[in-house]
Amino acid sequence: MICAAMLAGGIGTRLEQGKPKQFVYINNKPILVHSVEKFLNVAKFDKIIVSSPKEFIGETKELIEEHFPKNDKLVVIEGGLTRNGTILNSIKYMKDQNCEKDSILVTHDASRIFVSEKLIEDSIKYAIEVGAASAVIPATDVIFESKEKGKLTDIPLRKYLLHAQTPQSFNIDKFLEIYTDLSEDEIAKLDEAMMLFYLRNADVKLFRGDQGNFKITRPFDITLAEAIFKNSHASK
Ligand code: CTP
Repeated sequence: MICAAMLAGGIGTRLEQGKPKQFVYINNKPILVHSVEKFLNVAKFDKIIVSSPKEFIGETKELIEEHFPKNDKLVVIEGGLTRNGTILNSIKYMKDQNCEKDSILVTHDASRIFVSEKLIEDSIKYAIEVGAASAVIPATDVIFESKEKGKLTDIPLRKYLLHAQTPQSFNIDKFLEIYTDLSEDEIAKLDEAMMLFYLRNADVKLFRGDQGNFKITRPFDITLAEAIFKNSHASK
């Protein structure tokens, strides 16, 4: 079984739109609809598991039904309190469907609406080959570490730094095997799926992401996304 976890369990505080960012319109369509469309274009998925904050489940289901009527590839589940909690709920959904051993979950931030089919396909391929895989792009800026507000505590060498993107994909049995071995402290550190593999020295394939696959996070990203659509309409 190959499933996608369309991660939309967050509330988008940094976007400052007064509602979860998955419901914000870009180019006349909600963010969540853009990213679900991208995933529906990849035929390999058995299910696309769309998550939602608990209090927005009804709204998310309505949105999905309105834009993708009676599409039985799509299912809406409750997200977790953290992003990793949402990923765990998606894995649980797969297990509840009695998925076969070594099934693959492709996790994706719903707010990365410009993801390409190639990135999705690459992440599936590498997760099957290696067990876990993440899209990355090289850091452009020098990145300062500041563990104390206003104080410079480290300058890691830029040539070694990469920005993690999604898709991030993995074998769910490998994930659960490591998860059950983690301490409470380690579980608290899991703000993203690849951390779990890193904590137990499991292989993670890093493959080339795409600068266009940015995460709509702050108000400026809305301006940027709208400009990209405007530019693509103008060049047609
Ligand atoms: N996410 C999730 N479940 C959570 C928290 C986040 O599925 N409990 C998802 C978000 O919906 C988003 C993705 O993870 O698609 C990346 O997280 P982020 O950009 O931080 O989104 P938000 O948590 O919504 O934003 P913010 O941090 O600004 O509140």
